[in-house]
Order: sequence, then C-alpha cells, then structure tokens
Amino acid sequence: MTACLVTGAAGFIGSNIVGYLLEHGHTVIALDNLLSGYRQNLAPFPQVEFIAGDVRDAAAVERAMQNVEVVFHLAASVGNKRSIEHPLDDAEINVLGTLRVLEAARRNGVRKVVFSSSAGIFGELKTLPIREDHPVEPDSPYGADKLGAEKLCLAYAKLYPLECVALRYFNVYGVNQRYDAYGNVIPIFAHKILRGEPVTIFGDGEQTRDFVNVRDVVQANYKAAMARGVSGAFNIASGTRVTINQLVAMMRDASGLPVTIEHGAPRPGDVRHSLADISAAANAFGYAPSVDLANGLNEYMAWAKNEMRNQAGARVNAAARG
Ligand SMILES: NC(=O)c1ccc[n+]([C@@H]2O[C@H](COP(=O)([O-])OP(=O)(O)OC[C@H]3O[C@@H](n4cnc5c(N)ncnc54)[C@H](O)[C@@H]3O)[C@@H](O)[C@H]2O)c1
Repeated sequence: MTACLVTGAAGFIGSNIVGYLLEHGHTVIALDNLLSGYRQNLAPFPQVEFIAGDVRDAAAVERAMQNVEVVFHLAASVGNKRSIEHPLDDAEINVLGTLRVLEAARRNGVRKVVFSSSAGIFGELKTLPIREDHPVEPDSPYGADKLGAEKLCLAYAKLYPLECVALRYFNVYGVNQRYDAYGNVIPIFAHKILRGEPVTIFGDGEQTRDFVNVRDVVQANYKAAMARGVSGAFNIASGTRVTINQLVAMMRDASGLPVTIEHGAPRPGDVRHSLADISAAANAFGYAPSVDLANGLNEYMAWAKNEMRNQAGARVNAAARG
C-alpha cells in the first residue's frame, strides 16, 4: 500500500487517477482549489481525505504532503487560451505551484513526483512522429510554463534523492471530461452531437491528432510512479492518429445520432498533424496503451449522455424548488 497525494484530484484526469489508486489498495490525499475541478468527481470516494487548498499556498501544500510516498501533481491552470488571458496566474500556478510541490516533496522525503506536462511544450511540430528530443518552442504561456515546471522537476531529480517523471500528454479524452469554454475537441463535439447542434470542423478536416484515453493516462501515471529509479520526461499518447473527419464519423457511430457538419476557416496556429512516438515510456516503465479509440468513444458518449440527463434533472429539481 502506497500513501499518495493527488493535486488537481477533482479534475478530469486527477479523479480518474484517484479511482484507480483506491481500486489498487492505496491511500489518497486530494488537494484541489476547484478552479476547474468538480467536487462531485470525488463523491464516489468518501475515503479520500480532501483538502480544499491551492498549490500556491505553501502551508496547504505542506499539510497535504505529510507521510506521503508518491505525489501525482496535476493541479494546473489548464490550456493555451486561459494562459493567454491570464499569463501571470498561469506562471504562478504552473511554475511556482510546481516548485512549491517539489520543495515540500523533498523536505518530506517523498520518493517520487509524477508531473503532468503537456505536448504544448513542443510548439509548432516539425517532425513526425514526435519524439522526446523534438525541439521545444512553446507558443503560449501555458506551454512555456509547463516546460519550465518540467525542467524544475528534472533538476530536483538531479539535486535530491527524489525521483521525478514528467508525462507529456497529447490529446486526452474520456470519462469525467466535461464540456467547458476551454474544452478539447471531443467534449465539444459530444456536447454538440447530443444537443442536435452542428459540429464545426476548421479547415478540410484532414488534419490528424493523437487521442489518448484517460485510462491509458492513468496507467502511465501509475507505472511511472511504481517504477523504481526512473526519472525523465516522456510522451504519453496512443501512438496512433486519426483525421478530424474520421473522428466525427466515429463519434456519430458511437452516439447513434445524425450529425450535421459545418466547415469553418482553418484556425491560425493549429498544427496540421500530430502523432507521438511513445517508445521511450514503453521502454522505461512498460507503458502500453490499451484502449482503442472506437471503444473509448463508445464509453465516453455513454457517459456524456448520462451526464447530460443528470444536469437536465438537476435543473428541473432546482426549478421545482423555486
Ligand atoms: N486534458 C488534456 O488533454 C491534457 C493535455 C495535456 C496536459 N494536461 C495536464 O493534465 C493535468 C490535468 O488536466 P485535466 O485535463 O484533468 O484538467 P482539469 O482542469 O480537469 O484539472 C486540473 C485540476 O487542477 C485544479 N487546480 C487548478 N489550479 C489549482 C491550484 N492553484 N491549486 C490546486 N488545484 C488547482 C483544478 O480545480 C482542477 O481540478 C493538468 O496539469 C494539465 O495541464 C491535460
């Protein structure tokens, strides 16, 4: 049994990690300020000690770190768009927040920190598939701050007896990923399809993306945490890619609903193709993605339908209460 701290535990990926850790007999402390997370994501896990706290608050981080062996550090201001709107917040949470987590981790004798990084560190993609040594030229504060945080993790792994792994996620999707203004393409399309609204494809739809299911991201976190003596930065993706046109067709099949497509102008700054080389994570800690996109989308669309029903039910109840 391992004592774990999950920062950003109430979020999409964090809550999936919490569930997996508990299933495997580990104990979990959850730290989250609910900036973009949902308390209800942790409702199925009453045994978790939840600390409503901020990674910018050294005292809260220190309190959460007591007697912890492994830290999964996911708390972040997420996404390029938010970082362009709030660049100082982004740096304070993503860089200084990570540094606070590292400081508390080393002081408290933590064995390992697994940090959630992002493919956003690469910026414009130059070669495919993308290996870890691809040039890093982020084109947003978010990418730059994730890169800075990653470098801090790797420096701490050199300076102290603290193992640190940075996992560079590509496009993650899956259960507990809600639609919001900063959402990724799959929740946006799901939201539109389930409401009978047209989906917008920017450009010709032949651009490709490497979508990885959250179950595989959880697997990567877990295997990286349990592997002894492993530090470094690794791509986490499916190692396969689909076009956006193919994605829409698969989501239509998964939903069983008709889909109307609108085409918009290509968005400046969008990369044309994305595909990760995942062999480094496979070699270092046995990462092997296991959820194929069709199955993952079936599961996700079923969850999203249910979620939509629950939200509608909650609205009806609220209206009845007046
Ligand atoms: N979803 C993706 O496709 C993707 C891709 C690349 C990297 N990531 C990274 O994975 C991690 C998890 O992302 P997610 O998709 O689950 O997003 P999310 O927004 O659902 O989760 C982030 C969590 O961090 C919490 N948080 C934010 N600021 C905080 C702070 N100052 N103190 C404490 N908690 C704070 C939020 O409330 C939220 O619960 C993030 O670090 C993100 O940058 C995600």
